[in-house]
Amino acid sequence: MTEAPLIDPFQRAINYLRVSVTDRCDFRCVYCMSENMTFLPKKELLTLEELDRMCSTFIDLGVEKLRITGGEPLVRRDIMTFFNAMARHLERGALKELTVTTNGSQLARFAGDLHAAGMRRINVSLDTLDEAKFAEVTRWGRLPQVLRGIDAAQQAGLRVKINVVAIKGFNEDELFSLAEWCAARDMDLTFIEVMPMGDIGNENRLGQYWPLKDLRARLAERYTLTDLAERTGGPARYVRLEETGQKIGFITPLTHNFCESCNRVRLTCTGALYMCLGQEDMADLRAPLRSFPETDAPLKEAIRAAISLKPKGHDFDYSRQRPDGQMSRHMSHTGG
Ligand code: GTP
Ligand code: 5AD
Ligand code: SF4
Repeated sequence: MTEAPLIDPFQRAINYLRVSVTDRCDFRCVYCMSENMTFLPKKELLTLEELDRMCSTFIDLGVEKLRITGGEPLVRRDIMTFFNAMARHLERGALKELTVTTNGSQLARFAGDLHAAGMRRINVSLDTLDEAKFAEVTRWGRLPQVLRGIDAAQQAGLRVKINVVAIKGFNEDELFSLAEWCAARDMDLTFIEVMPMGDIGNENRLGQYWPLKDLRARLAERYTLTDLAERTGGPARYVRLEETGQKIGFITPLTHNFCESCNRVRLTCTGALYMCLGQEDMADLRAPLRSFPETDAPLKEAIRAAISLKPKGHDFDYSRQRPDGQMSRHMSHTGG
């Protein structure tokens, strides 16, 4: 029996699930976490078996793209067991893409295994190529370790996209060096506007905000930019730099809202389903999962009910000189 696809109230088909498998991270990026984070007790987390059942149910309901996030997904104990289990859905063709967004710190260890599990493309967060600045923005991270991870990923045959959060006064001066570095290594590059997620202090946030229309204008001083129509199923809009042939993505939740084409929902490591990154609406899927170990029907019903409540979009806005639409949740909770 084939299931009806997941369609939300705005006629958007939901075929992309992002799963945060842990809220923990070995870094403390300044725009993502405070220095002293309190993490969830282990007993709150879905087990790897429960994560498998949860994701498999979404795939039954038509999800074709699974992105594993965190926190840092690769610090979750035994996470390869989960990836290896998901590989079966790739093999039978139900899942079109299994991928991960990572800070790169554990890639040297896992890249080969990820490729073997059927992964072909990963996103690595990297905001600067300067060792001292890297230590400053991630607080706990070390650049050489991440660079070794990226090398390992490319050697393993994984296509790498670099995610750069555009931060005013911090990486503005690295716009061209980051672009050239990615071009030389044949890696895609996406810039992200900083979003008001988690309490890190409002002044701090506004100080960080570098609108991508400004960044784009800066790029256009050196390169000829051509807008591209292509999409990867994510919110990024792409341009090609005619001089290098390279593709650059912009994720602009603040300056250009892309919610009209939203195709995704987010599952946290405790089994809460967030219907939008920028809204509080959520549904508890852990209860129907745990209460009915023998049947997925109540879980499927809960997923459909949640999708029927998906909001139209987020309300992030800095235009009144204070962060509107601010979310108390940290990015590490919903996984970006
Ligand atoms: P691909 O296009 O498949 O590479 O994926 P992606 O860009 O969706 O994934 P990635 O994990 O690299 O996401 C980059 C960042 O984009 C996320 O961490 C978020 O900061 C932002 N983002 C992704 N989806 C949304 C969304 O639905 N709304 C908002 N506001 N931001 C999003
Ligand atoms: N605004 C924008 N991007 C963020 N990320 C983490 N916190 C924020 C924020 N407040 C990014 C990370 C990573 C992705 C998962 O989300 O740098 O690329
Ligand atoms: Fe960790 Fe990513 Fe948050 Fe940085 S942005 S603290 S790497 S979860």
